[in-house]
Amino acid sequence: MDKSKLKKDVTIVYAVALMGLIVTIIMYIGYFTPEWKKYQSEFKRYVSEKLGEEKAKAIEFGVKQIYVKELNRVDRCITCHMGYEWKGLENAPNPFKTHPKEILDKHPLQKYGCTICHGGQGYALNKEEAHGFIEHWEEPLLGKELEDIYRPPDRKVLLQMNCNICHRYDTLTPGADYINYAKKLVKEKGCRACHKINGRGGVIGPDLTYEGDKAPEQFDYSRIGGYKSVFAWHVAHFKNPKMVSPESIMPEMGFGSREAIALTLLTMSWKKVNLPPEYYPQSYTALADLPTPEEIEKERQMREGEGAFFVNKGCFVCHSISVFGIESAAKIGPDLSNALEDVQSRFGKTLENFIKEPTGTMSIVLGSQIMLTDSEKVQVVELLTKAYEKYRKQQLTSKH
Ligand code: HEC
Ligand code: HEC
Ligand code: HEC
Ligand code: HEC
Ligand code: HEC
Repeated sequence: MDKSKLKKDVTIVYAVALMGLIVTIIMYIGYFTPEWKKYQSEFKRYVSEKLGEEKAKAIEFGVKQIYVKELNRVDRCITCHMGYEWKGLENAPNPFKTHPKEILDKHPLQKYGCTICHGGQGYALNKEEAHGFIEHWEEPLLGKELEDIYRPPDRKVLLQMNCNICHRYDTLTPGADYINYAKKLVKEKGCRACHKINGRGGVIGPDLTYEGDKAPEQFDYSRIGGYKSVFAWHVAHFKNPKMVSPESIMPEMGFGSREAIALTLLTMSWKKVNLPPEYYPQSYTALADLPTPEEIEKERQMREGEGAFFVNKGCFVCHSISVFGIESAAKIGPDLSNALEDVQSRFGKTLENFIKEPTGTMSIVLGSQIMLTDSEKVQVVELLTKAYEKYRKQQLTSKH
């Protein structure tokens, strides 16, 4: 064999091997340089470009964190989100962007940290884990990635779920439009006719006071399409309760995505949390979720009229009886003024028989929520016969 050729080959082999080794080392260093270090170097470069060398020099590298002892949280988000308190980076890309200022004026960072509002995994130092969109972390960042899945009609609304953990008893929280809208719907649609919320309401549906604590395994996803999550379950259920829970008597209320998502954020925010008292707004006690004076006065008036029985028994939560001056806030069932006739045509039986052997919603109402004695059942029929006579008279006079 040609010796010189062999020598040349060996040199080439060594050279290739050495190059390979160098590449491996570079990759190795790259691989083990934590992600956050790259963001910090990039941040320095960015600041120097936008705000000048002087400002950039002042940046200190290293892991940064906000420790909030009262909340037992260590939030290291600012290790990457370095510009959060800087002036002049309002238009920078994330994670360098200045944090919207107004919200932090009301909730100083040293007292709140980041995750109490945003969700995510506070102590993690790479993006995927910090933003928490990983298995076994139940509070992912309420941000872009979840938005891509849940597709709310407006952007940046998911965050509002966490606002309401503290602002639960506010009737209105500036900056939480979806929550405010959902609270209005809960009143208008009379959810309390069937559900207990904050200690008040009916027992036909489950108590919702701590609905947000219900574990994902407790829901049946077999009729939910797409991404299966508690959030998706609620949205589908609000749009069409019977499709998700076939036996349900929860009425379909004609909700679109906006309503369904607003109500989902609200019900999921109803968690039992034990924060130190200073984390609850003052309104927490002042504005506790109680009936308004107007509501109490109206109820008092209705209680004194001809239809007192239906107010005292709680029928008025779902039924108006307009001829007796009773107006239901929720109007979940029909006006009972003409029930005598309506029951006959709708159910093919007399009112008397319907009250004795009700079907549908009323069978659950009279079986679990409002127990009537035999003599009370007689009273219902008598009173509704009287109501019907009034109703007929009104019909006749209005025709002339
Ligand atoms: C009191 C609640 C609250 C706290 C605490 C909080 N944020 Fe925010 N954050 C918000 C709100 C509200 C927005 C604005 C959402 C919007 O644009 O409508 C926001 C926006 C952001 C954005 C997106 C900015 C943009 O326009 O793209 C980032 C990133 C962010 N916050 C990070 C953090 C970090 C990091 C911390 C902790 C240092 C933190 N936040 C603490 C409520 C909070
Ligand atoms: C390793 C670096 C890193 C850490 C740690 C980190 N982030 Fe981010 N964050 C980023 C980057 C990069 C972006 C911009 C790209 C993107 O949107 O995914 C971003 C974007 C965001 C956004 C706006 C986009 C969205 O999804 O709404 C929010 C809000 C946010 N981060 C909050 C947080 C919070 C809260 C923490 C702490 C729990 C945190 N980040 C920790 C790197 C990080
Ligand atoms: C950990 C509890 C907590 C969270 C989470 C929280 N807040 Fe607050 N918020 C408070 C407290 C406490 C105050 C101070 C109220 C006071 O001074 O009485 C406050 C004050 C406010 C105020 C000014 C007072 C008012 O009612 O006008 C607004 C607006 C507000 N928060 C909106 C929000 C929004 C929007 C979010 C979610 C992005 C949010 N908060 C998240 C506890 C919280
Ligand atoms: C006529 C009675 C009735 C009314 C009114 C009603 N619900 Fe329901 N709701 C039920 C019943 C019964 C269930 C249990 C069966 C099911 O899952 O649908 C239920 C289930 C729910 C659940 C799921 C609870 C769980 O963990 O399984 C939520 C959340 C809910 N209702 C919220 C609401 C809200 C918010 C409103 C008002 C917008 C409302 N409901 C109005 C009867 C009602
Ligand atoms: C939780 C809500 C709720 C309560 C409380 C309630 N109802 Fe009903 N009721 C309904 C609904 C919904 C219907 C319609 C039933 C259907 O279509 O299956 C109904 C139907 C009726 C009907 C038939 C009306 C018609 O025109 O066909 C009568 C009569 C009636 N209820 C009487 C009562 C009485 C009396 C009480 C009190 C003891 C009462 N209801 C309490 C929800 C309720």
